[in-house]
Amino acid sequence: MKLFESIQLGKLQLKNHMVMAPMTRSRAVENNTPNELMATYYGQRAGAGLIITEGTSPSPNGIGYPRIPAMYNQHHVDGWKLVTKEVHDKGSKIFLQLMHCGRVAHHLNLPDGAKVLAPSAIIAEGQMFTDAEGMKENDLPEEMTTNEVEEAITEYVDAAKLAIEAGFDGVEIHGANGYLVEQFLNPNSNYRKDDFGGSIHTRSKFLLDIVEQTIEAIGAEKVGVRLSPNGAFNDMSAYPEMEETYDYLSKELNKLGVGYIHLLDHSAMGSTPLPQNVLENIRENYEGTLILCGNFDKESAEKALEENTADLIAFGKTYIANPDLEERFKADAKLNQPDMDTFYTPGEKGYTDYPFMK
Ligand SMILES: Cc1cc2nc3c(=O)[nH]c(=O)nc-3n(C[C@H](O)[C@H](O)[C@H](O)COP(=O)(O)O)c2cc1C
Repeated sequence: MKLFESIQLGKLQLKNHMVMAPMTRSRAVENNTPNELMATYYGQRAGAGLIITEGTSPSPNGIGYPRIPAMYNQHHVDGWKLVTKEVHDKGSKIFLQLMHCGRVAHHLNLPDGAKVLAPSAIIAEGQMFTDAEGMKENDLPEEMTTNEVEEAITEYVDAAKLAIEAGFDGVEIHGANGYLVEQFLNPNSNYRKDDFGGSIHTRSKFLLDIVEQTIEAIGAEKVGVRLSPNGAFNDMSAYPEMEETYDYLSKELNKLGVGYIHLLDHSAMGSTPLPQNVLENIRENYEGTLILCGNFDKESAEKALEENTADLIAFGKTYIANPDLEERFKADAKLNQPDMDTFYTPGEKGYTDYPFMK
């Protein structure tokens, strides 16, 4: 099967077409620093051709959730080195997902001195878990000054450099799921009057500036971008120029030569589906590697590869529950079911204790 054949991604040789999707697991219990337990978890899943880590904040201001990892100081670099070493020793490749939560945040989850920031002072409807006080409404964010926008772009670039120092094969800029980048893209969360708001071009500028400057810093083949057109997660809502926005973005990302585009179909998460014409349009505009994610099993993944809908397939929840997923697929073995109750809880339970095949 194509799924199990090796494939070239930029300068990297991946051992198969299977990608472990980025998934927040909230196990970075001390100062948002990765640890041995996280290294074990990722190492267990190194049968994937490529692992994309959980969303990792490039800034103290971007840590919306409790216990998510970060990448802005030497402790973070040293912690992540444990993870990259384990994954590389086991023969896989690994990209760091850079996720700034923006307004999907509560200040109780942020370190001292950090701020909940967003393109505009518009609250994201929804609740956020805090270790200190349980569920809380998302905070009303402060509107970023133009200076703060420029600073945030620099934070992404600096985090990408630290990622390379920590041994990562590249970074994925999280432009999906209603976090800071998508808060800029969507006109319903971006009322800005400066260069970063208004038209499709100016709303896209935040993402495209990050990508361009990150490419200058670490090289195009080491930079991927995740997008979820039409997604409604984290209070993103529909807007008339959606198709045009992703048409423009995919053309610009093609010009910049990003290493891959990673598209997420949100219908897998009970939300709005990725329209077929948007997917086809992106495939046409963008000549590089396309990763597709959302509710795939072995058969549907193979079909998408055979039909050339995508070049790589990412699996989310099935990788949480099945550390040896590719072995199970090869053997047509029964799959473990993921336990939602332990997705975000600290410790080994529901994290590193899913059984391997005998
Ligand atoms: C527990 C959990 C955490 C997730 N965290 C992230 C994340 O940090 N970044 C991201 O881009 N997507 C995240 N996602 C979405 C997944 O990457 C994936 O797109 C989604 O689960 C659909 O794929 P699946 O049907 O194969 O699970 C998360 C999903 C789950 C279940």
